[in-house]
Amino acid sequence: EKPLLEKMPPDQEQALTRDIEAEFERLKPSAASEDRRRKFLDKLSRILNEEWPGHDTKVHAFGSTENHLCMNDSDVDVCITTKCKAIESTCKLAAALEKRGMERIVCVPGAKVPIVKIWDPEYQVACDMNVNSTLALDNTRMIKTYVEIDERVRPLALVIKHWTKQRVLNNAAIGGTLSSYTWICMILNFLQTREPPVLPSLHMLPHKKKPPNAGVDISFADDIETLRGWGRDNKETLGELLFAFFKKYGHDLDYEKNVISVRAGNLLSKEEKGWQFLQNNRLCVEEPFNTGRNLGNTADDCSMRGIHLEFRRAHKILAEKGHLAECCEQYEFP
Ligand code: CTP
Ligand code: MG
Repeated sequence: EKPLLEKMPPDQEQALTRDIEAEFERLKPSAASEDRRRKFLDKLSRILNEEWPGHDTKVHAFGSTENHLCMNDSDVDVCITTKCKAIESTCKLAAALEKRGMERIVCVPGAKVPIVKIWDPEYQVACDMNVNSTLALDNTRMIKTYVEIDERVRPLALVIKHWTKQRVLNNAAIGGTLSSYTWICMILNFLQTREPPVLPSLHMLPHKKKPPNAGVDISFADDIETLRGWGRDNKETLGELLFAFFKKYGHDLDYEKNVISVRAGNLLSKEEKGWQFLQNNRLCVEEPFNTGRNLGNTADDCSMRGIHLEFRRAHKILAEKGHLAECCEQYEFP
């Protein structure tokens, strides 16, 4: 077997960087798509306050709508905060939304965080909503801060997200693979562990303590004015970073031993987390706030083998030809 290519040849790497920049321009949501999302959020807020007036009900978007990593087909993640008991009962919420013209309604009342899924035919958006489960707003704020620190994060993360969708590696709920959130944590940790690093650990930098949310410490360094440009000592291009991303997860990372931790800004060991015997612990990704949660546990050993092969495939394509388009070709089911 040929030895692993450590770095791409310079001309190939420059061409890849240009391809990533062009792809990023294509993936960024259009103004029209942003507009549909905003109008949908206003409409949802109006419906809830008309159906149940006087409960101080607010609609907060989180996830990709707020973290700068939205694509045209992304769903809208919504957290409703309210004092109204009827809205808290997800089935009553679902019934009211159906009455107001929402479609494809699915109610998941038993889940750890109960949610209602809907499709709005007017603005053509899919939405997942929870009620009063505000921790997701805090981890969204963390992702958003990381994206704003260095201007390479957004194009790199969007192109990798596109790759995960094209290769069918982005469906934690049904596919047994990983959520976008898990993928984003893997990308951030990759950037934290470059030499020199592109990103810091916001949890490890000095910061003011905030009151806990549902018993969870939600504080981290979030003053973007002082953080912007933190990674400027790292001069790697987008092409070099994408290549190194696939190499790290395809060849270098020891999945047997390591836990990916954005909170620590580093790799931890399964022993120190006490995660050696967890179910589906082939890939370990620590949730930065609820540090007992393994975000990688949606993928079992079999789908982790598939994901690992996909990293290697992508690395090989970039090593041989450097073609982003081939790397992101749509997966064809056999
Ligand atoms: N989330 C979480 N724990 C998970 C999955 C998701 O707390 N295991 C929360 C996070 O706040 C995340 C949000 O749900 O930002 C949305 O998750 P997801 O839809 O996976 O990510 P998006 O960034 O919205 O990506 P996409 O565009 O694919 O919807
Ligand atoms: Mg989402």
